Amino acid sequence: MTDGRTVLITGAAGGIGSVTARALAAKGFHVFAGVRDPERAVTETFADSPEGIEPIHLDVTSPDSVEEAVAKVPGPGRRLVGVVNAATAEYHGPLEILPMEFVRHELEVNYLGPLAVTRAFTPQLRATGGRVVNISSINGLCVFPSIGASCAAKYALEASSNALRMELRRWGIHVVLVNPGAVRTPLWPRSLRAFESLPDKVHADQLRLYYPAWSRSVERARVDQDRMLKLAAHPTRVSEAIVHALTSARPRSRYLVGWDARVLAMARWILPTRAFDTLASYTFRE
Ligand SMILES: NC(=O)c1ccc[n+]([C@@H]2O[C@H](COP(=O)([O-])OP(=O)(O)OC[C@H]3O[C@@H](n4cnc5c(N)ncnc54)[C@H](OP(=O)(O)O)[C@@H]3O)[C@@H](O)[C@H]2O)c1
Repeated sequence: MTDGRTVLITGAAGGIGSVTARALAAKGFHVFAGVRDPERAVTETFADSPEGIEPIHLDVTSPDSVEEAVAKVPGPGRRLVGVVNAATAEYHGPLEILPMEFVRHELEVNYLGPLAVTRAFTPQLRATGGRVVNISSINGLCVFPSIGASCAAKYALEASSNALRMELRRWGIHVVLVNPGAVRTPLWPRSLRAFESLPDKVHADQLRLYYPAWSRSVERARVDQDRMLKLAAHPTRVSEAIVHALTSARPRSRYLVGWDARVLAMARWILPTRAFDTLASYTFRE
């Protein structure tokens, strides 16, 4: 039975977003699970019809879609107390050759989208003293080769979150950042599929500059992904941080989730730039 407290989550079709939707619904929240394909969400992600979860169409890159969501959320007798920005799209590849459409799309989904959603729902959050939880990444604090576009999008999300935290404080709206390390979600195979499609979009000469033997590079990327996924945290580790950010009387401004995130953030803090570059190049070899 929900008690009227309502949270909107973007990117709730899978991964961290869907796990967080379930965790919040179990705590009595009414959860609007923002997805791009509500039908698929009903038949797949939330096929067991968990009480308190209402899938809603929300493509964070579409102003019309955001506007439609504003008209539906929170619904009669409810109050919006939180917005969780979890939608993401990530592409791997060196910045010189990564197609610009990928770079733009990353900025749209990971930076401009969350900003547009936050702006659209701020009037409601102002009325309730609600909270914004932005899912950043360790990539928002440290930069690694081959995922420079993802890092740039997360750094932009970090900067806008920090500014919003100061700007919205006067209305009691907390803006919280969550920085996970590696988490076991469909994001990894999805990014790998996009990486595998690079030869369709990048000229062979350019591709050879970074990947002299393409098939070997793809194989290495798969091996690296398997290695990362073995060490990766379960998404509940992240959802616990999000629930704390939304329910604690004293939410933190930042939650680092996972030993890898903590070690890398500390290394970035204490190591000189060149030493960190060496560590980062080893950590992310692709
Ligand atoms: N997994 C990790 O290792 C990891 C590590 C650090 C940080 N994070 C962060 O955690 C958050 C959640 O990631 P995740 O691992 O749960 O990823 P995920 O499993 O890939 O889920 C991301 C969701 O975003 C949705 N999405 C994509 N484009 C969208 C758009 N334009 N509008 C609305 N939704 C859209 C996808 O929906 P469709 O199904 O419709 O494509 C997908 O359900 C992200 O911010 C990510 O950067 C993840």
